[in-house]
Amino acid sequence: MKEFALVFQGTAFTSRSTKEIEILKDYLFCINEDGMIEKLVSPESAEYEEIIKQYEFKDSFHRLEKGQYLLPGFVDLHVHAPQWAQSGTALDLPLYDWLNTYTFPIESKFSDIEFAEKVYDDLVRTLLANGTTTVLYFATVHKEASILLAEICAKQGQRGLVGKVVMDNVDQCPPDYRDKDTETALKETEEFIIAVKDLAKSTKQGVYPVVTPRFIPSCTDEALEGLGRLAAKYDTHIQSHCSESDWEHEYVIDRFNKHDAFALNDFGLLQDKSIMAHCTFLADDDAELFAETGTAISHCPISNVFFSNGVLPVAHLHSKGVDIGLGTDISGGFSPSLFDNARQAVISSRMLEEGVDPKLPKETRGVPSSRITMNEAFYLATAGGGDALSLPIGKIEENFAWDVQIIDTLIPSAKLPLFNERLDEVFEKIMYLSRPENIREVWVQGNLVHKRN
Ligand code: GUN
Ligand code: FE
Repeated sequence: MKEFALVFQGTAFTSRSTKEIEILKDYLFCINEDGMIEKLVSPESAEYEEIIKQYEFKDSFHRLEKGQYLLPGFVDLHVHAPQWAQSGTALDLPLYDWLNTYTFPIESKFSDIEFAEKVYDDLVRTLLANGTTTVLYFATVHKEASILLAEICAKQGQRGLVGKVVMDNVDQCPPDYRDKDTETALKETEEFIIAVKDLAKSTKQGVYPVVTPRFIPSCTDEALEGLGRLAAKYDTHIQSHCSESDWEHEYVIDRFNKHDAFALNDFGLLQDKSIMAHCTFLADDDAELFAETGTAISHCPISNVFFSNGVLPVAHLHSKGVDIGLGTDISGGFSPSLFDNARQAVISSRMLEEGVDPKLPKETRGVPSSRITMNEAFYLATAGGGDALSLPIGKIEENFAWDVQIIDTLIPSAKLPLFNERLDEVFEKIMYLSRPENIREVWVQGNLVHKRN
């Protein structure tokens, strides 16, 4: 029999569809040298006992203990890495004032590479400890610090997709925090792409450069066009913010007489590997354009409460065929946890359906059929994120990467209230009630990257 690099035995939860989970009870998970899942073996299979016999006394064999379960590692589709320095603060202003008062000043400090290293090292460690194995990051305008973030992901074993942020529009960006000029912005983006592609060769899990116009207001037409060309030339992912707030949405209508989606598409920025944050104000024809081009949404439900004054209609957009994943939007969203964001996604969808003003007549309060279940929120945090990025991640399935978190429901400091429930109920309790303490181990591409003692 072929030699596996790792064999795990235990029970796993993974998405079968946007609405259904699959429970793999007492399976064997056989991982190859490349950190990919080569084979799932059910207890009914003829080779089950044979594989256990062959591996059970080897270091490569990992039997989950009682009360432990496997989940796919989470995929966070929207993190502003420099904003980790202000997470949990500065949430009192609307988007435009928040950017200018707090956020551009803190991001400008990342010209200091030592400060950047402290913040980025702590952030990547924290996200791994929260079960997040793949992250789509905005860094800052600074090329060196952006490369450093990719290096820190590479070193800590996280699958980081990193963008050097482009901000060249002098009308919208402060003099001490923007690209020198359009030509420099494009030149440094190209140098950044080449450096990160080179760095990726030394990693097992991969790190990826991402073309990153911050959002339309911060970029000139020339920059947006040049970035579309660079993404095509180097076949990179693309990320930006799209139709996030009243102010931003209206700014784009004033400038282009169309919505963000169509404007971004005109510059070649909507394609299969494009991920747009928020999209709270997407109209139906914008959503259809997303579905046609394969563009995905990173849904950031905590952040949307503070900056969008709206709720993304996830159920409606899924019915239109749009790919959606989940994002923390650190620090517009204060929490580094996709557990917290999955919970907020469910809560916000319920508020959208039920309506928030009890003084209105019941029939006119909310938007029917808006609610999503925790199964769907779990899908967004895992398989939806993998689909959005077009990478084989987010599911515990053959030919997917071994990116997993081991949840321990019995540790004394954070024991879950389990009393002989069915496994689907155990899953729900994990999703609603677990805390970072319950995350025992985190693996990326077959490497152990976090362990709680
Ligand atoms: N739009 C442009 N920049 C940002 C940012 O940093 N956070 C959020 N939430 N929206 C943005
Ligand atoms: Fe954001």
